[in-house]
Amino acid sequence: MNYGDDFQRLSRYDREKLQGRNLDWENKPPLYKSYPPGLERIELGKPQFKDNRNLFDIIQQRRSIRRFMTEELEPQIFSGIIWATQGITLATEHHQFRASPSAGALYPIETYCVINRVKGLKPGVYHYQVPYHSLVLIKEGDYGKELARAALGQRMIDEAAFNLVWSAMIERSKWKYDQRAYRYIYLDAGHIAQNTALAAVSYNLGSCQIGAFFDGEVDRVIGVDGESEFSLYITAIGNPR
Ligand SMILES: Cc1cc2nc3c(=O)[nH]c(=O)nc-3n(C[C@H](O)[C@H](O)[C@H](O)COP(=O)(O)O)c2cc1C
Repeated sequence: MNYGDDFQRLSRYDREKLQGRNLDWENKPPLYKSYPPGLERIELGKPQFKDNRNLFDIIQQRRSIRRFMTEELEPQIFSGIIWATQGITLATEHHQFRASPSAGALYPIETYCVINRVKGLKPGVYHYQVPYHSLVLIKEGDYGKELARAALGQRMIDEAAFNLVWSAMIERSKWKYDQRAYRYIYLDAGHIAQNTALAAVSYNLGSCQIGAFFDGEVDRVIGVDGESEFSLYITAIGNPR
């Protein structure tokens, strides 16, 4: 069973086979995930941008960092990193474009924050509400250890000031791209993670991208079902040790 080989072959576009599809506009999945009222919502505030660093220096300096100091992170810096993932950078009449590109501007990737130590935010699992640049508190508590355990015991996750977990709501992309959507979600997630890594360097922070984890266990931490929405990628972020 070579699922990966089959996936690559079956999701190819071939000129001879490609047919146009009619999009079902009436059943277009919503672009934004919402949570029931009653959960605590936290405005992230204006990000603090640093403008004294050259992009090319930042690219040069990015390295995967796996050991972190235990100090708390400033909220404006946290806000800036979250904004760099998927914050809205251009609003037009029909679209809200984001910091990271996305196939068809369908934005199937959701951002969750597993917070260990950010000033003013209780440790817990939060969802990033893109249109409001705010967070919803899904569950309060020390989930760093559980996430680290889910990621094959990688301790940097527990040491980090916070972790970002990205999931895909696959129907959002399948609505247009069908099986090819499975290629695009990984590409989308890669763009988001790279923005995150570069934003971290611009604040003199370190980050590490993490792809090794037990999927179902990470799904449980962020509270998703693993089918309509499933975990893709994690980034740990903090002050380098
Ligand atoms: C898709 C992906 C998955 C990764 N998963 C892990 C991981 O689970 N644990 C880890 O320590 N590093 C992980 N890394 C980081 C790589 O080990 C790292 O990028 C690589 O060694 C190159 O080093 P650099 O990032 O410092 O340039 C991952 C990187 C990528 C792109």
